[in-house]
Amino acid sequence: MSGLRESSAELTLREITEANRAEVEQLRVRPDQDTFVDGVVSSLAEASATPASNPWYRAIYAGDTPVGFVMIANDAPAQDKVIRWRYYLWRMLIDSRYQGRGYGRAALNRLIEYLRTRPGADELVTSVVPGEGSPLGFYLRYGFETTGEWFDHEQVLRLPLNAETARRNPIVGPTG
Ligand SMILES: CC(C)(COP(=O)(O)OP(=O)(O)OC[C@H]1O[C@@H](n2cnc3c(N)ncnc32)[C@H](O)[C@@H]1OP(=O)(O)O)[C@@H](O)C(=O)NCCC(=O)NCCS
Repeated sequence: MSGLRESSAELTLREITEANRAEVEQLRVRPDQDTFVDGVVSSLAEASATPASNPWYRAIYAGDTPVGFVMIANDAPAQDKVIRWRYYLWRMLIDSRYQGRGYGRAALNRLIEYLRTRPGADELVTSVVPGEGSPLGFYLRYGFETTGEWFDHEQVLRLPLNAETARRNPIVGPTG
């Protein structure tokens, strides 16, 4: 299943520190993808501005090379004013030089391994801007499903982290 196929370079999620922050901030999507995702610098600023939503972010590394960035709302409180889902994939990008190598899928695998350690993580929600070049197909291919909801101008998707999803994709679930 899709969750099992990964690129050969070991894919890890690493903390962003003073030592690697500058190189992670250099990561860029293609110019035509800018409408679908904010960059690393603005994501880090958003994280600083919204601590109540429990932003949690990591750099995505293939071996020792930074290739992307991921940010979630990590157990957001029920009445949070910004993020309405407990576990929400807030930002994800793979630098244009490294797209199409399975790193996006492998990063989701790592993220889900982390979510298995988190309380009450029975689903991961995200939202995408639809249209030409949208990442919608990437998420559907992974196993996310549409919910029919909208979050501002974004279509809401959810990935159940339960036994049925685990049967279809052993990487995905269940969480503890
Ligand atoms: C979307 C993104 C994270 C995918 O990462 P990636 O490393 O290029 O994707 P992968 O190589 O892991 O692709 C996994 C599978 O999804 C497919 N896929 C990737 N991007 C896709 C897209 N935009 N539409 C449809 N399918 C897509 C791949 O063909 C691959 O399919 P396979 O199972 O047949 O091999 C990355 O392209 C990206 O950062 N895009 C720009 C920013 C963005 O849109 N981020 C998401 C914001 S919500």
